[in-house]
Amino acid sequence: MTSTLDIKIEKTPKSRVTEYDINNVPFGKCFSDHMFVAEYSNGAWNKAYIAPYQDVPMSYAMSALHYGQAIFEGMKAYKNDKGEVSMFRPVENLKRMNKSAIRMAMPEVPQDLFMKGLNELLKLDSAWVPSSDTGSLYIRPFLIATDEAIGVKISDTYKFVIITCPAGKYYSEPIKVLVETNYFRAVHGGVGFVKAAGNYGRSLYPTKLAQQKGYQQVIWTDSETKLYFEESGTMNVMFFIGDTLLTPGLSDTILDGITRDSVLTLARDWGMKVEERKVSIKEVLEAQQNGTLKEVFGCGTAATIAQIIGIGHNGKDYMLPPVEERKFSTKVDETLRAIRKGRAEDRHHWMLKVG
Ligand SMILES: Cc1ncc(COP(=O)(O)O)c(C=O)c1O
Repeated sequence: MTSTLDIKIEKTPKSRVTEYDINNVPFGKCFSDHMFVAEYSNGAWNKAYIAPYQDVPMSYAMSALHYGQAIFEGMKAYKNDKGEVSMFRPVENLKRMNKSAIRMAMPEVPQDLFMKGLNELLKLDSAWVPSSDTGSLYIRPFLIATDEAIGVKISDTYKFVIITCPAGKYYSEPIKVLVETNYFRAVHGGVGFVKAAGNYGRSLYPTKLAQQKGYQQVIWTDSETKLYFEESGTMNVMFFIGDTLLTPGLSDTILDGITRDSVLTLARDWGMKVEERKVSIKEVLEAQQNGTLKEVFGCGTAATIAQIIGIGHNGKDYMLPPVEERKFSTKVDETLRAIRKGRAEDRHHWMLKVG
């Protein structure tokens, strides 16, 4: 699908970038100068522009607010040592966004509109991309239904928007996670495999309960048997047991993470044994008991690698090997950072330069 829309650009009269220490801002709270917006109506994308970051004038009847036709993506851009800005695997995000759009009965976003919008926005706001080793520009593309109408039906109008914010480290410490067997993130036939806004709303209450018990996140289990791990919070989850990297195989209840795919690709490049299949709570806890469980970590765009240091299950905490001993995930984290910062060979062509 293509679109030949021109992007009109209205620049901010005054950049706000000097008001922040962009190498040191809390995640998701400070937004760059500009945003990209594309509008859909009458069955077509018919307007695209970049404007100063601003609030949206909208109706309280806007259908996204009531019926949840709202999807989003999360991706990042990095600045290399020469000051050049590149995005990490943006086409994968577009593909996933359009998978989400189809499932939520929303219009797909044409590739050239998505890529041109991103490129122009990042060119304009390149000063907002942190240059620090762990810094990046977090990019949030999202698509919302904008019909002013009460009544459950597919919206006729939509806005596709991209906003960005500088980001540092997501988790400053390794995390403890609670195995969740009362509440479920996803069910077969549902929308767990896409980034629908409602997936995140439903996760907040169980996460709050876990946090009240002293855990930072939950590990979701499958709703049918409650015996298998699915994801951890908003990350895919990986286990290094013996000499094998294990991760739950993809299904309609698991988000197809781009970091997950990148980690698996590197592991295979390095000749490691990798298994994508159902991973049971029992086998992981047994491996913890017999000393073969070497590493557990979450992986996702926001954190890249989030080390999991403890797993709570049925009232018991299972503590895991210290982060200093985790050779694989440390190497993955360093390798991904080196590729993103232009310091290591990008053999899979993951980086796309802005310009
Ligand atoms: C539920 C869920 N799982 C996994 C991920 C990791 O996906 P990615 O690596 O593409 O960020 C995310 C983040 O997007 C997520 O929200």
